[in-house]
Amino acid sequence: MFLKIEKIVNKKNKSKIICLTAYSKNVAEALDNYTDIILIGDSLGSVLYNYNTTRKVSLDMMIEHSKSARMGIKKSLMVVDMPYKTYRNKNEALRNAKKIIKLTKCDAVKLEGGSSIIKIVEYLIKNKIQVMGHLGILPQSVREKFKFKGKKENERKRIFKEAKLLEIKGVFSIVLEGVESSLAKKISKSLKIPTIGIGSSVHCDGQVLVTDDLLGLNDTKIKFVKKFANIKNQIKKAAQKFRSEVINKKYPTKKHSYS
Ligand code: KIV
Repeated sequence: MFLKIEKIVNKKNKSKIICLTAYSKNVAEALDNYTDIILIGDSLGSVLYNYNTTRKVSLDMMIEHSKSARMGIKKSLMVVDMPYKTYRNKNEALRNAKKIIKLTKCDAVKLEGGSSIIKIVEYLIKNKIQVMGHLGILPQSVREKFKFKGKKENERKRIFKEAKLLEIKGVFSIVLEGVESSLAKKISKSLKIPTIGIGSSVHCDGQVLVTDDLLGLNDTKIKFVKKFANIKNQIKKAAQKFRSEVINKKYPTKKHSYS
């Protein structure tokens, strides 16, 4: 296994794994010292492009944003989401995963789903592609609003079984999105590989958030999102100050002019 991935897997039961999203160089660079994993998530569709579904995100969009983020990542493991309809069968998945890795120099790819994609995951791993799994809420498959998973017994059994199956096939970790706490705990305890939770309780081995949410750039009302800063307010204040200095001819001064 690659060294960076081995280090992350070895954190299980020792210290929490920190994962955040980035879609560009400057943000990735600011995060890199504080994260174990930087995810170029297809959440960029809703966050940056205001799409109502991640299904509209293309392979080219993922590649361009990942190339930008790559320039800011020195230390963290870089994982890129494979977007919708880029892994419908084994050959398509391998071709696109290889393209993503070649063009973005990422360390691994993430695919959404369990049993329905298990043969594809297995095939990628056999072909030496490092894969991160993603269970629970699968934004590429649902059109409905955020609804947590694991209320019903059959759903709990299925998600648990799929987590085990993904581990057996060789994924190095699994994102659990919107999974009920006791189920997330059970899965995390049963697997040897780490779980990375988003809206799936403290029991996961690590946590991931969409960085724009954490920074307060989004007006999201999702229960599990905590704003750790309010960058939108700071942007507003800076723009207001710039506007006032320009109007009052306080900027630019001689210091900011050529003579
Ligand atoms: O696309 C994304 O950002 C993700 C995370 C929310 C896990 O998949």
